[in-house]
Amino acid sequence: MKQEELKALVGRAALAHVVRGELVGVGTGSTVNHFIDALAGIKGDIRGAVSSSVKSTERLQAHGIAVFDAQDVQSLPVYIDGADEIDGRGFMIKGGGAALTREKIVADLAARFVCIADDSKKVPVLGAFPLPVEVIAMAAAQVSRRFAALGGSATLRAGVLTDNGNPILDVRGLSITDPLAMETEVNQWPGVVTVGIFARHKASLCLLATAQGVQTLVF
Ligand code: 5RP
Repeated sequence: MKQEELKALVGRAALAHVVRGELVGVGTGSTVNHFIDALAGIKGDIRGAVSSSVKSTERLQAHGIAVFDAQDVQSLPVYIDGADEIDGRGFMIKGGGAALTREKIVADLAARFVCIADDSKKVPVLGAFPLPVEVIAMAAAQVSRRFAALGGSATLRAGVLTDNGNPILDVRGLSITDPLAMETEVNQWPGVVTVGIFARHKASLCLLATAQGVQTLVF
């Protein structure tokens, strides 16, 4: 099966985790786009969605799914999103689509994080995928120096600003053996808006699409 078919398979499988009669948190990316398209088929059974990006909002609304402002929502039963990498403990790298800050905000509202991914995203140790970090522009050089001291090489993602108007650094060369510790450390650095390590907001479970079907990994 091609990667796009695996993404479509797992996007449909995620419907089983949507709580009927409630709001659902919706992530961002090509895998989530398949989920949104599948969600349209049960839109009459949910109250609506809380979205993590302008792109996902536009796709949800194009399907006639009501999108609620995160500010008006106290909690969500479930947040469904993709990942750039996920390890054997449910820790993830996210932000390849530059939506990491809003993704973490919506994930924070949710009781459960359901990660949907094809099996190319499953890794033993996080870090082969360049770690995205949303920063205040003024801090980009200093944050890059701090990563260099940890053995990482940070570059500004060319031509990209997030939905919040900030640049993204992509950090190569890290081997993230302790995601919780690194997330905690980088969160302390002035000018970091969001680091794309999702350890405090790790997956509760992962639906992993493989050529043999969808596996469920519970963390
Ligand atoms: C966007 C993300 C995405 O979840 C991540 O990049 C995976 O995307 P895709 O499903 O397109 O592979 O974190 O910021």
